[in-house]
Amino acid sequence: MSGRINLLAPEVRANPYAVYAELRRHAPVCQVDPGGYWVITRHDDVVAAFKNPQLFSNVGMRMATKPAWLGHNPFSDSMIGQDPPQHTRLRNLVNRAFGPAALARLEGRVRHYAEAIVARIPEGREVDFVDAFTLPLPASVIGEVIGLEPSLHSRCKRWADDLTSISANPQDEKRREEIRAAVREAEAEMAKVLALRRREPREDLVTELLQARVEGESLGDAELMSFMFLLLVAGLETTIHLLGHCVRVLMERPDVLARLRADRSLLPRFIEEVLRYEPPVQAMGRLTTAEAELSGVRIPAGAKVMLLIGSANHDDARFADGDRFDMDREGVNNLPFGHGIHFCLGAPLARLEARIGLEVLLSRFERFTPAGPLEWNHSFTVRGPRVLPVIAHGST
Ligand code: HEM
Repeated sequence: MSGRINLLAPEVRANPYAVYAELRRHAPVCQVDPGGYWVITRHDDVVAAFKNPQLFSNVGMRMATKPAWLGHNPFSDSMIGQDPPQHTRLRNLVNRAFGPAALARLEGRVRHYAEAIVARIPEGREVDFVDAFTLPLPASVIGEVIGLEPSLHSRCKRWADDLTSISANPQDEKRREEIRAAVREAEAEMAKVLALRRREPREDLVTELLQARVEGESLGDAELMSFMFLLLVAGLETTIHLLGHCVRVLMERPDVLARLRADRSLLPRFIEEVLRYEPPVQAMGRLTTAEAELSGVRIPAGAKVMLLIGSANHDDARFADGDRFDMDREGVNNLPFGHGIHFCLGAPLARLEARIGLEVLLSRFERFTPAGPLEWNHSFTVRGPRVLPVIAHGST
């Protein structure tokens, strides 16, 4: 393999897995474009890096999301951009709010939103499934989680898009002002939620966060705000892409769809295999704090590294015939949600949203056919359809 691969080239976006396989074989740790990131492609190396936050630090995320032109961004101080001991303290404080009780409370709300959204999908004619299904469900759920009024749920995606575009460091002043305005607007709305819950506690996640105490410690105002921003960014686009991949597999694999229609209890298995086969988070960034060595390759200190979950999940050394979609694989693979101290806090919620969303979808529609070319999103870290033209055919 010669020259640097561009992981954002359109042909690679359409199918990155062939390129990952080449890298795993011939250059398991190497630099790629854009940005000269060092990518780690083999399953065991990705896990080893996730397990070693002393050497593979998360603070790069902080730096990338707080450029001088932005001024202020609560997201960059959130726990995903922190290492121990700061991360440990924050994680301990928020953990309980995401426990089984919170999930049980949310289940009814997820079903309520899924039913309303699926009822609005037109039958028998072309519709962009991102607009009609894969975006509105996670937007409503994340809006609910952070306590926003339903009228504000549709703004969540714009805020999240503006926040994630910061690390691309746009040069245009108009665009920069749009992003600053989005940060101000999101912060103002979340401040209202926090003030309201302080005055009138409810049985919900925001109230639990306000009341969280561990060894006499609680979350300060700025920490609460940072965590709400983190939920918005971490919980939305990821779940949109999970649902997008699920719908795409249902269109490509009528045999799989038939099995799921005959037996809904197979849905969790289906979702796990979609998460492995098309992980919505393809890569997580790290910064080396010292020289590191993986698969015999030395990575210098201070290097920007990407742990390629997308590649690890297709590694034949870990998953037999890794490029094949196979719902009958045994064993649990949690890597789509990361590994170690930053393991996804929202994994049970994402799995719940996907299961309920698909249950409701399959109870209304019998099959789904493509209605035009799928357009992939443009990002190093998350992968999924930006436009997904589908015709949904009703049950007969
Ligand atoms: C299919 C959907 C999702 C996927 C694939 C996913 C994936 C991930 C991954 C790979 C990480 C690890 C980050 C790292 O190691 O630096 C992570 C962290 C995180 N996720 Fe998720 N996520 C999903 C949904 C959600 C949802 C729905 C929420 C919340 C409502 C959420 C909240 C978080 C938070 C707060 C963290 C940071 C944890 C920490 O820094 O300790 N995620 N997620």
